[in-house]
Amino acid sequence: MSQTAVTPAFRKTTEIYRVGAKTLPQRYFVSLEVFGKEQELIFSKQWVLAGHQSQIAKAGDYFVREVARESVIIVRDQRGELHGFYNVCRHRGTRLCEGQFGHSSTIQCPYHAWTYGLDGRLVGAPHMDKVQGFDKAELSLHAVELALWEGFIFVNLADAPTPLEEVFAPLAGKFTHWNLPQLRSAKRIEYDVRANWKLIIENYSECYHCPGVHPALQKLTPYDLAENDLCEGPFLGGFMPITKGHSLTMTGNACALPVGDIKAEDHDRVFYYSVFPNMLLSMHPDFVMVHQLRPQSPERTLIHCDWFFHPEAFDRSDFHPNDAIEFWDMTNKQDWHVCELSQQGIASRAYQPGPYSPRESIPAAWDREYLRRMR
Ligand code: FES
Ligand SMILES: [Fe+2]
Repeated sequence: MSQTAVTPAFRKTTEIYRVGAKTLPQRYFVSLEVFGKEQELIFSKQWVLAGHQSQIAKAGDYFVREVARESVIIVRDQRGELHGFYNVCRHRGTRLCEGQFGHSSTIQCPYHAWTYGLDGRLVGAPHMDKVQGFDKAELSLHAVELALWEGFIFVNLADAPTPLEEVFAPLAGKFTHWNLPQLRSAKRIEYDVRANWKLIIENYSECYHCPGVHPALQKLTPYDLAENDLCEGPFLGGFMPITKGHSLTMTGNACALPVGDIKAEDHDRVFYYSVFPNMLLSMHPDFVMVHQLRPQSPERTLIHCDWFFHPEAFDRSDFHPNDAIEFWDMTNKQDWHVCELSQQGIASRAYQPGPYSPRESIPAAWDREYLRRMR
């Protein structure tokens, strides 16, 4: 049966306010027990953002990503297929890949040189052929479920996870015109933030703080004009208007070719969505910024921030990626600073959950989704 595309209704943040919404209790930000539960119930069970397909473009390219305290190798094999493997040798368990990124025709253990193909099969094990019952076919690397959404690589540590297409069904086709699978990152900055990962997402999800914290951003996207089309559940967000003719860059000018076939009305909008649990997707007409959160402890979060552009933008004279990168690096650091201050205050014995304002409906909705997952 064919489905007719329906233009989603956008609602002002204040219209979706639920009376009585409050911030989370202290333990959610400081307790090791809660952190462990999050690793178990969320990061070991959900589809977790790990990267973008362009970051392992060629056969043999790989990167290593930590998910729920597990090290996972994500690699492209000779046939172009992507695989995820636990970074654990089948001989005596040794960590196989030490670096974060690399390129290799095989995966070889640094200990006794057992060698695996890029598809995970054990292809070489010195002096093991005389061992009784030894069968290479039974000693492939342990696979991790991996799936693509709009070119982004997600991994799932669960044994039989709900297929990604099913989980991401509410987003099916929604961002097609943003060309996300084709984009390429021009820059990654890694931030080490002394704050709980949820504070980063709650901060991202509202602009109530923008007038005081982000004077430059506030001039280009007035804080009070957010409209949301995803208001409950694992995917949340919407857009904010950008002052006509401007872009979110240091100069205020567009810094690259449009990333895709952007609709006329979206040329003056920036779309912000959180994708549960660890992706923040910020789509501007001329670039897409993605934050990937990697919780390290209750009080510490590593954040990978990538700036993606149209692949054809790179060779043109009107390509000024630093204009966007500098703008958002400045804005990111302003955010991390207030998140760190929040962490410090929340750790106090004086902290109690405080009332969310009607302009913080999205962080309140995110908290509800988080609590549903933690049950
Ligand atoms: S532990 Fe890997 S080859 Fe021995
Ligand atoms: Fe902010």
